[in-house]
Amino acid sequence: MPITSRAAVIREAPGKFEITEVQVDDPRQNEIRIKMVASGLCHSDDHVVTGDLPVAVYPVCGGHEGAGIVESVGPNTPGFAPGDKVVFSFLPACGKCRWCSSGHQNLCDLGATVLVGSRWEDPTSFRLKLEDGSPVAQFLGISTFSEYTTVSVDSAIKVADDTPLEKACLLGCAAGTGWGSAVNSGDVKPGDTVLILGVGGIGTMAVQGAAHAGAANVIVVDPVAFKREHAQELGATHAVATAEEAAELAQSFTNGQGADVSIVTTGVISGEHVAQAFAATRKAGTVVVTALGKATDVGVPISLLELTMYEKTVKGSLFGSSNPRADIPRLLELYRNGYLKLDEVITTEYSLDEINQGYEDMHAGKNIRGVIRF
Ligand SMILES: NC(=O)c1ccc[n+]([C@@H]2O[C@H](COP(=O)([O-])OP(=O)(O)OC[C@H]3O[C@@H](n4cnc5c(N)ncnc54)[C@H](O)[C@@H]3O)[C@@H](O)[C@H]2O)c1
Ligand SMILES: [Zn+2]
Ligand SMILES: [Zn+2]
Repeated sequence: MPITSRAAVIREAPGKFEITEVQVDDPRQNEIRIKMVASGLCHSDDHVVTGDLPVAVYPVCGGHEGAGIVESVGPNTPGFAPGDKVVFSFLPACGKCRWCSSGHQNLCDLGATVLVGSRWEDPTSFRLKLEDGSPVAQFLGISTFSEYTTVSVDSAIKVADDTPLEKACLLGCAAGTGWGSAVNSGDVKPGDTVLILGVGGIGTMAVQGAAHAGAANVIVVDPVAFKREHAQELGATHAVATAEEAAELAQSFTNGQGADVSIVTTGVISGEHVAQAFAATRKAGTVVVTALGKATDVGVPISLLELTMYEKTVKGSLFGSSNPRADIPRLLELYRNGYLKLDEVITTEYSLDEINQGYEDMHAGKNIRGVIRF
């Protein structure tokens, strides 16, 4: 029997989250139905609200950074039992495609389907529906802003029974994305000078990744004083309000050369942010582009001469170039051992009904990561 669940959906973009009842399908083979425990308020869902990140089908139920408890398991679906705890991976990993089998699970071919929000193996079939039977798309195939959701096992990582899901939900996006932007995509090395533009949920995790990798200087830029102070509590060595000040600092620590690695984690990226990071980065250094903006934006105003002559690398980073099946358990272990801070990143908890307040607070610079507790 489908379960009736309260969920936050967007009916059009630009729009607003609206709490409504959805019918959550019984799990089919290779699917599990989850009772949600917690979901982080990542900026990427706000890109759906503003329309910067368009999806194929509306209404769409948001949320992609979540954790919960298995309520039921589809037929012939080994590996999960009711009561198991899971953390979602915001990108599914099939385990079989070229990317999954060569250490790039974040680029799994299933990623091509997640903005449709239906079952990947049966694309006209949706796991969530309105009362009248019309489809509700699942953002990134998971929709963690719902009391219950049915997902493919490709999107779920089973974790130990004693995992605090109200914190571990961040492993579903922010932790892997931010940490991995520094450790995997940026390949930060001991002694490096690292510059991070934007220290919200993702940037704060990048700070931790850079510090953990041994960076000597972790310079953060954010226009909001609260964000700058908070980043310093989690490993940033210097915090300034503008990219220009950060570039000067980076040069002062490197004999005028510039940052070894710069990471762009601003809320709404523009070409200008990448150009600022590029200008602050040394010869043969790396600019990691993690943030998202308007999907149709093109162009980065950088010197092509500098790109060639200084051999700089500009690279995109999706989920921190991580392999969620290996990296979510690994980051959870780092959290348990005290190396990875999650509790400190979650500054405010909200109820599902307070979701729009949570995003207003994000825009107003009042939270680092807001989390919905179900
Ligand atoms: N690539 C991926 O896999 C991936 C995954 C998750 C999120 N994202 C994207 O990463 C970005 C950050 O997400 P978040 O949840 O941390 O957002 P957030 O809103 O919590 O944090 C963004 C921060 O950037 C700061 N900021 C805004 N303009 C700035 C500027 N010009 N210079 C410096 N700082 C500035 C804000 O004050 C804020 O602290 C978003 O664009 C999000 O969509 C990408
Ligand atoms: Zn996210
Ligand atoms: Zn795959």
